Amino acid sequence: MGQLAEHVVGRDEELRSFDQVLGDVAQGRPAAIQLVGEPGIGKTRLLAQLAARANERGHVVLSGCAAEFERDLPFWVFVDALDEYVQGLDPRLLGALDEAVRTELASVLPSLSALGDGTAAPHDERYRAHRAIRQLLEHLATFKPLVLVLDDLHWADPASVELLGALLRRPPDAAVLIALAVRPRQVPERLAAALERAHREETVVRLELTALSRGEADELLNESVVETAAAALYEDSGGNPFYLEQLARSVSRATEAGSPVSAPHAAVLEVPQTVAAALAEELALLSSGARRLLEGAAVAGDPFALELAAAAAAVPDAGSAEALDELLRLGLVRPTDVPRRFRFRHPLVRRAVYEATPGGWRLEAHERTAEALEARGASLAARAHHVERSARHGDLAAVAILREAGEAAARRAPETAAIWFGDALRLLPDAASADERVELLLARAGSLAASGHFLDSHSALLESIALVPDESVARVRLMTACAGVEHLLGRHDDARDRLGRALEDLENPASADAVALMIELSVDGFYRMEYDAMREWAQRALLAARPLGDKALTAAAVATLAYACVLGGAITEAEGHRAEAAALVDTLPDSELALRLDAAVNLAAAELDLERLTEAGAHAERAMAVARATGQNDFVPVLVYCLGWVTRLGGRLADSAELFDGAVEGARLSGNTQSLAGNLLNRSLSALAEGDIQMALITAEESVDLARRLDQGLASASAGLALAAALLETGDPARAVEALVGPAGGDELSRVPRAWAASWLELLTRCWLALGRSDLADLAAARADAAATAVGLRMARSKADRATAAVALDAGDPDLAAERALASAAAADDVGIPVEAALSRTLAGHALAQAGQPERAVAELQRAAAELHACGALRYRDAAEHELRRLGERIHRRTRPGKTDRVGVESLTERELEVARLVVDRRTNTEIATTLFLSPKTVESHMHNMFQKLDVSSRVEVARAVERAGRATPDS
Ligand SMILES: Nc1ncnc2c1ncn2[C@@H]1O[C@H](COP(=O)(O)OP(=O)(O)OP(=O)(O)O)[C@@H](O)[C@H]1O
Ligand SMILES: [Mg+2]
Repeated sequence: MGQLAEHVVGRDEELRSFDQVLGDVAQGRPAAIQLVGEPGIGKTRLLAQLAARANERGHVVLSGCAAEFERDLPFWVFVDALDEYVQGLDPRLLGALDEAVRTELASVLPSLSALGDGTAAPHDERYRAHRAIRQLLEHLATFKPLVLVLDDLHWADPASVELLGALLRRPPDAAVLIALAVRPRQVPERLAAALERAHREETVVRLELTALSRGEADELLNESVVETAAAALYEDSGGNPFYLEQLARSVSRATEAGSPVSAPHAAVLEVPQTVAAALAEELALLSSGARRLLEGAAVAGDPFALELAAAAAAVPDAGSAEALDELLRLGLVRPTDVPRRFRFRHPLVRRAVYEATPGGWRLEAHERTAEALEARGASLAARAHHVERSARHGDLAAVAILREAGEAAARRAPETAAIWFGDALRLLPDAASADERVELLLARAGSLAASGHFLDSHSALLESIALVPDESVARVRLMTACAGVEHLLGRHDDARDRLGRALEDLENPASADAVALMIELSVDGFYRMEYDAMREWAQRALLAARPLGDKALTAAAVATLAYACVLGGAITEAEGHRAEAAALVDTLPDSELALRLDAAVNLAAAELDLERLTEAGAHAERAMAVARATGQNDFVPVLVYCLGWVTRLGGRLADSAELFDGAVEGARLSGNTQSLAGNLLNRSLSALAEGDIQMALITAEESVDLARRLDQGLASASAGLALAAALLETGDPARAVEALVGPAGGDELSRVPRAWAASWLELLTRCWLALGRSDLADLAAARADAAATAVGLRMARSKADRATAAVALDAGDPDLAAERALASAAAADDVGIPVEAALSRTLAGHALAQAGQPERAVAELQRAAAELHACGALRYRDAAEHELRRLGERIHRRTRPGKTDRVGVESLTERELEVARLVVDRRTNTEIATTLFLSPKTVESHMHNMFQKLDVSSRVEVARAVERAGRATPDS
């Protein structure tokens, strides 16, 4: 019935919003818009209108749509939107993207799969895929704005939801509009949270669609029905356009045919009875061939390929063309942009058709679809979906497909992988071996944990433990995994009890299993800050391990012992164990190390605290590579921690910030609060060193909040440290003290691992000095000194000396202050921690100036400023330079010829000015990079520097500053 309105009826306000948002995007700004409304209210119609308007403006429009029965195809909505388009692009265009980005894209978009190298990052790193898509979008929007239309998102698969969340949280830095539609009552929790957050932060415009008015309804029906019928229709439909149309169809048909409507069914649709009846009636009038094809299509998918629908329906290709014509004529399906691919008129129609098919027939139709897909070489994911719906219990081939599909999805789409592993378990024959079942349960538990479903993961593990006999090898592995999840859930006591019981149950208390459990019990001490217990268990483990002659196991035990000793402050003993562990680990081939990867992980952690930064870095890198290759995700957070510290201490501040930034994203995705809290606090410390105080504060505050929800422990204490450091820098020493001493065990910071205590006490010293409490500062510095002496570490010594120097300077003894500060710098140099050394030198500079030695002061300050500059510690550098200027020095920076003694735009380098001018032209970073032949990273760092120099926080402000200074063109 072609008489229905072709144009959009009503919705003036929404259309105005569209124009506004499109206008924003045309200016180069990213935007997002969300349509919310009940089924049939007109969301898809309006999205089409938006797409048409964007097209008119010459924007690139790409549309994707989630489907009700295909919620398990990873990233489907984005694949639907992007894949065809990207496939059609000139390959050289994508060549401009980083190699790493292309590899990630390959794992998301089938059309690019050839770009991949087959390796996949651990699921903790799936944020990299999100970043890659963000970059792709930025890239696609380089020359024309890009509009990404995502419909029916309430049915989106979990991986798409995560990706969308990431894009909303950090929108592409380009002219990209994301327009999406959802039904309000069907939005999954995670999507709702992401949308809610974006709404709160005003990064998404939300439009709620309500019923059409009576007048609009009439306009929609376009006088296709008589006045009395129109009134009744409005009444029955409640102003819902889909209902109106559907009811109108049957009214007009009834008038044409003169036969009454009868036999309603399909109430499963959750639409008014009259609408369901109208739809059922429409379907009942189809010829049997068309009906069959339509049913096949409902099984095959929405959108569906004609061949696949025919295969599902088991209709010969010859008959399908005629049947298709009938369906097209009646508007039940419509063509898409892709030849031979069609869509249902509306998802509700597909649902009605699908639900009305007999169950047995449906099973077979899915089976036929799975076969047809296999014959066409379709992806495992595409096949798994149909296998899952058709396979019989005990079907080993189906189990294999589902398991493989699960494994393929586990890294990027763990939630979907968990479903497939679960389906494989369900199909597993009763006679299957316990081992096989346990493998699947473990895989499922791992995927569940990776997507934040810790409780479900825990249940899966309990279930598998019940399955294996007491003496099985798998048992210890399962118990350990289970305790690991209990730690994640904050149930540390449960974890300890479980491990203790498992150990007691072992027949042979000197077996490898026993050693493994003792190592776990040692690690358990870490969560409670009980370092002595940690050490005792590690000692027992090592004692039991030695006679077994298992090198990897011994390495694991001795590395754990080394770390326990470090944390407990037994540094000399730790050093001995470290040396043994390193010797063992370095001779183990990767294949053996993979069996006890914790050996390398704990070794790296110990080396970090033992000030062996190079070795720590090397061992952490190696462990990371093995973890990636063998999918041992659990170790990734610790390794990121080690690498982030090694880079930060080594003065590579930007690298450490980037590492923790990624880890924060990863932890958000996996819902792992502990890891998120830890990464945030480390992100904060890196930001502080870089001089980004705002970022340091925000991240530390979030970390403190999260840690508070966990058990009191190292997480809370460390988060408190980061917050205190940031607060002191913002001039709030009182709150800083509060944040620091509370969770760390009072003024003595007694709960802090001894190797770290001097460093923490140095911060406390500065807090007290800032508060004018010389007495308490003195005490804190003395404690720092004692702590440093007790552990005998140079880093601790350096910090303690700096604390003493600060107190001495405050007390009017600049000579002692200078001497201690220089000793502190020397100790830091010895370890190779340039930022720390420079901070000590800055203090030495102050002291020397006060001691009447201006030349030596200037020399120290200049060296400090240069080092801080080289590391990117800009705020600390500025502080050193400030003192230099006070001493009458002019600042010359060889490495960056900006005029830093000037302020504002004057201080920008030529290159920065060039970038700034392009910002004035509203170019995106990607465009600027292309125009100036720079890498996007370099542009980012120019932007970062300009923000700092101009003391602004947005591009708009940069543009304004440059325009105000009359430097918007090169000649001015
Ligand atoms: N404002 C309008 N003007 C003209 N036709 C409309 C309007 N709103 C909706 N329609 C028509 O009503 C029908 C249902 O609308 P649409 O498919 O957009 O609903 P929806 O909100 O996307 O529903 P669902 O949640 O089920 O996807 C479509 O045929 C559409 O063309
Ligand atoms: Mg819709």
